[in-house]
Amino acid sequence: MTKQRPATAVFGQEEATAAAELLRNGGLVAFPTETVYGLGADACNEVAIAKVYEAKGRPVGHPLIVHLSDSSDLARWTTSQDVRVSKLTTAFWPGPLTIIVPRTDLVSDAVTGGRPTVGLRVPDHDIARSMLGAFGGGVVGPSANRFGHVSPTTAEHVLADLSGRIDAVLDGGPCHVGIESTIVEVLGEGPVTLLRPGATSVASIEDCLGELVVDGRSGPSRAAGMLASHYSPNAIVRLLGSDVVLGERAAPDVATIRPGGTEVGGHREILLPVDDAGFARGLYAALREADSWNVREIVVVAPQEGPMVEAILDRLQKAAA
Ligand code: TXA
Ligand code: MG
Repeated sequence: MTKQRPATAVFGQEEATAAAELLRNGGLVAFPTETVYGLGADACNEVAIAKVYEAKGRPVGHPLIVHLSDSSDLARWTTSQDVRVSKLTTAFWPGPLTIIVPRTDLVSDAVTGGRPTVGLRVPDHDIARSMLGAFGGGVVGPSANRFGHVSPTTAEHVLADLSGRIDAVLDGGPCHVGIESTIVEVLGEGPVTLLRPGATSVASIEDCLGELVVDGRSGPSRAAGMLASHYSPNAIVRLLGSDVVLGERAAPDVATIRPGGTEVGGHREILLPVDDAGFARGLYAALREADSWNVREIVVVAPQEGPMVEAILDRLQKAAA
């Protein structure tokens, strides 16, 4: 006998307080951020956290980042006294930067997968911060998709993956940035290490700190978002450096996503803005749409220039893996 799941409630943007109340009662609430929608649960409630893993189909032990309404309560979460952490939080929070730091004993193993570190972030999104402020504590927030799938940038995307598996989604409209936060690790005396590129550029972090950031993406740590075949639609994704070779690929079971600006798109073709930020904002919705056509292959031509290109290529390479 299949167990009947209760329907997922959809909260309007003025219902952040109701969302906070549901979190307080151990519920799962997807919420908007500037990057992608997160799947929220009380970071101090291990039963609720276990439900997050179950709803996403995420392997246990894969650590979760904690979302806070501001940086006033950092000492609750981290033992770090590193001046680089306060420089980064002052410069980039609220914003699309997750900082991995040594955790306090108050942080549950369920959040960190038993690691001695915790990822912290203050999202730059009014509705998210209203919810977090009303909740008053830390909220875990992995992207609100089934494990390995493309992250959601609208409430509809969340429901497509998780309807009936979570208590509610707080609908804040489309996410402005469109791909997940930059992740850096700040531990001990060592250099600041990049684990995932995002909208907060490495160059801006280096400017802020006056030191170089090391690329940790091939190291052992590491953000499990680095797993190959992450961020994947069902179709095969092929990444092209330019649209010169596109003609060869115009088969009936192939979709194309490319920067096209105001051009008119052809059959099974999605044109995104030519600027890197606009392309990033629309990319995940385009991948989901192309996938809904049940094509065999999605060919993506990425923009070549701009601060978001590294993050765009990172996600597309994972989708293509
Ligand atoms: O933009 C974002 O960061 C979104 C929104 C919702 O805030 N969240 C997000 O969460 O992308 P998630 O769980 O899908 O990706 C966070 C990544 C995961 O790959 C996780 O393994 C890694 O961060 N991570 C979290 N805590 C970590 C830790 N202590 N050490 C190393 N990696 C960590
Ligand atoms: Mg994710």
